[in-house]
Amino acid sequence: MISDLFCPLQIRDVRLKNRIVLSPMLTYAATDGWVNDWHFMHLGKYAAGGCGLVFMESTKVDPRGCTTPADLALWDDRYIEPMIRITEFIKAHNAVPGIQLSHSGRKARQSRPWEGRGPLPADTSLPGGGDWDLVGPSPIPHDAQHGTPRELKRDEIAGLAQAWAQAADRARRAGFEAVEIHGAHGYLIHEFLSPVANQRTDEYGGSLENRMRFAIEVAAATRKAWPEGKPLFFRISAVDGAGWEIEHSVELTRRLSAVGVDVIDCSTGGVANYTHVATSPDIGYGYQVPHAERIRAETGVMTMAVGHIIHADQADGIVRSGQADLVAIGREMLHNPNWPIDAAQKLGIEPGFAHVPDAYGYWLEKRARSRFPGRPSTWQRGIDARD
Ligand SMILES: Cc1cc2nc3c(=O)[nH]c(=O)nc-3n(C[C@H](O)[C@H](O)[C@H](O)COP(=O)(O)O)c2cc1C
Repeated sequence: MISDLFCPLQIRDVRLKNRIVLSPMLTYAATDGWVNDWHFMHLGKYAAGGCGLVFMESTKVDPRGCTTPADLALWDDRYIEPMIRITEFIKAHNAVPGIQLSHSGRKARQSRPWEGRGPLPADTSLPGGGDWDLVGPSPIPHDAQHGTPRELKRDEIAGLAQAWAQAADRARRAGFEAVEIHGAHGYLIHEFLSPVANQRTDEYGGSLENRMRFAIEVAAATRKAWPEGKPLFFRISAVDGAGWEIEHSVELTRRLSAVGVDVIDCSTGGVANYTHVATSPDIGYGYQVPHAERIRAETGVMTMAVGHIIHADQADGIVRSGQADLVAIGREMLHNPNWPIDAAQKLGIEPGFAHVPDAYGYWLEKRARSRFPGRPSTWQRGIDARD
């Protein structure tokens, strides 16, 4: 049976076996920026569970950009080597390893969510040591609780675009095949885009053109450092409830595409506490999908939909109806890391469990046949429903 969700997708030289993506999710488990066995286990599950693309969580390009002291780092070469074990494992399971590169700007220096997400004292050290000064486009705090960021100087801004580029080059050396720039959720790039967080009077503030400048410079610098054949994603808050509207996202998408961004990942909110964020409790199924649909329709650029995508037929329908090219799944994947395997069964596209690791697939197929005795064995390694 044909399923659009399980139709492979070629982006530049990289082929995704299906349209199912593990959405980047911070797990707050690093010590001094390093990956460890937790990250290997956590990301490995989704590769073995059948995702086409597995994004490592928001990983920081600059120590000051850590949301919490337990964020992952790629601001120095020394962080590359232990990541290789993870990317190799993901590839060994026929999935594509991706990484999200990020800087939290004025929303940095917080405690973990389950510790209250509160601002940490100003004398808290950076992961790896040193002073942790909050920086942002303007000296405007995120809210009354957060510290006031120091306004970034003109020459520091160029340096930060280079920090993304250098981190992308390290990601290549670590074996990643896709990079996503985090331009959403009220973090540094989004702060520059926002008329609320950005009150600069130089060429990085004021008009839409000026506020988009940093995002485009980051994307252009990253594209230059990132191999031509590898996909570049960019996550935006398509609307943020604080002055950034879908029309602005459409324009930004055109500009990002012109500098080599391949896929726009469409989230929302996060720049102010009074706006919805992607994990707000009172939101419905696929609530952000219309943004992915509109951006794709108006620009012709590939989009990824995310947010309360729960069911296999829901996800399949999003791809089939052309609302998005890819679906990113977050919390439902935490609940069921075998979501793609489960979806393949529910959509009836792979009764033979051919994509499940042999150690499980052989037995699961046998069990399925014992329940439906007439069914011929389709268990065969390497079968792809659409190949
Ligand atoms: C625990 C957790 C951590 C997250 N960390 C990130 C992150 O590192 N980068 C990011 O862009 N979004 C992050 N998000 C947002 C998710 O990627 C996703 O957009 C959101 O959860 C909505 O999708 P869902 O309804 O499928 O969970 C996080 C969400 C959760 C629940």
